[in-house]
Amino acid sequence: MLALDFRDLSQHSDVLRLRDGQSVTVRFVEPQDGAALQDYFRSLTSGSRYNRFLGAASELPRSELEKSIHVGDDNRFTVIVMMKVDGTERVVGEARYAFEPRSGRFEFGLSIDDRWQGHGIGAALLSNLECRAAAFGAERIFGDTLRSNSAMIGLARKSGYSFAPTPNDWKLVRFEKTIDVAPADIPCASWRLAATGGLPASMH
Ligand SMILES: CC(C)(COP(=O)(O)OP(=O)(O)OC[C@H]1O[C@@H](n2cnc3c(N)ncnc32)[C@H](O)[C@@H]1OP(=O)(O)O)[C@@H](O)C(=O)NCCC(=O)NCCS
Repeated sequence: MLALDFRDLSQHSDVLRLRDGQSVTVRFVEPQDGAALQDYFRSLTSGSRYNRFLGAASELPRSELEKSIHVGDDNRFTVIVMMKVDGTERVVGEARYAFEPRSGRFEFGLSIDDRWQGHGIGAALLSNLECRAAAFGAERIFGDTLRSNSAMIGLARKSGYSFAPTPNDWKLVRFEKTIDVAPADIPCASWRLAATGGLPASMH
């Protein structure tokens, strides 16, 4: 199981190659990324924000933003997807996840910039999250989405998730999968760190 070294979050960064040959970097949010993360949420279409926040919102509430930039608090983590656009590194996606050590369950939500949807970034980020979950020693990964969110449901279906009603909320559907990352195929830095014993075998 992975323990994070908060002194060097960059060692958990991953470069993901997309099907068109472009690459993106997935890395933990740092406190100085707060403004860029908020700008990213504001730049999403209202439909994407609605789907991401499961309701209407023009931006990330200040309290949530504050929590998001403090990676690891309460076993919750935010990663951003960075891509070079016109020579400048920009946030083109994000995911927030939580690991519950007692149940072995890993919950997440994610979004991709509307201008970059349909390029395979969501699928690549989802695989990366599964690997991050494996590095924690998670047994199950899941998320909840609106029943009307055909893009997320399509992505989850294509990625091998099964579906069930979300407890206590008829508007949502839960997609869930057993974590199964083969150690021979090391697809993320966090897994590599955990597998090579570079970090102690417990959560802080
Ligand atoms: C859901 C979301 C993350 C998908 O990201 P994406 O980068 O556009 O997805 P990808 O390009 O990687 O697509 C992967 C697969 O997902 C499915 N998919 C993607 N968009 C789809 C759509 N609009 N309708 C149906 N299926 C879709 C397809 O199976 C696709 O495979 P294909 O390209 O071979 O057809 C993105 O649409 C998004 O950010 N939506 C707004 C926020 C949101 O809904 N978040 C989920 C809340 S948990």
